[in-house]
Amino acid sequence: MDASQIELRVGCDIPVGDLIGLYDSVGWKAYTVSERRPDLPRALRNSTYVVTAWYEDRLVGLARALSDDVSVFYLQDLLVLPGYQGQGIGTQLMRHCLERYEHVRLHILLTEDDERVRRFYESFGFRNINDLSESPLSAFVRVHGVELS
Ligand SMILES: CC(C)(COP(=O)(O)OP(=O)(O)OC[C@H]1O[C@@H](n2cnc3c(N)ncnc32)[C@H](O)[C@@H]1OP(=O)(O)O)[C@@H](O)C(=O)NCCC(=O)NCCS
Repeated sequence: MDASQIELRVGCDIPVGDLIGLYDSVGWKAYTVSERRPDLPRALRNSTYVVTAWYEDRLVGLARALSDDVSVFYLQDLLVLPGYQGQGIGTQLMRHCLERYEHVRLHILLTEDDERVRRFYESFGFRNINDLSESPLSAFVRVHGVELS
């Protein structure tokens, strides 16, 4: 696959089966278990910005964000179909979102603590809050139905 053959599309007009397949492929069951399936198209519809990556009309990646277009851009999901990972698609999606929201002051995301994922986000200038010493910040999170420890 040649990265130049990837087409990026803005908007959430995506067949539900393709969406479920993509989220399922990276193991994000919280979105794809049968009782939650109707929530996924709703979550996309209510996102501020959705951009998808297509290879020969196959959905191979997606990024979606919430933003007020002034002070905060929150990246909620970024995912690439496993067979297409490591070929620059995540980078294309990320660059596209960051260019669109370049003017916004805070860029925030929450993700699993995985070395490769960390390196990926650091390459775009994101810093893990735990690594900050000269400009310390705190981040707080609640997860519905989960007792965090
Ligand atoms: C993280 C993710 C979006 C990166 O997309 P991608 O298209 O594979 O990334 P790119 O090819 O543009 O860039 C590759 C870089 O991404 C990072 N990366 C993280 N996970 C990776 C994976 N499973 N495969 C390949 N690269 C990965 C690495 O830093 C890699 O750089 P390296 O080759 O120097 O190690 C993608 O791997 C993915 O969907 N993972 C599963 C879902 C996830 O964890 N999403 C992030 C949390 S929101």
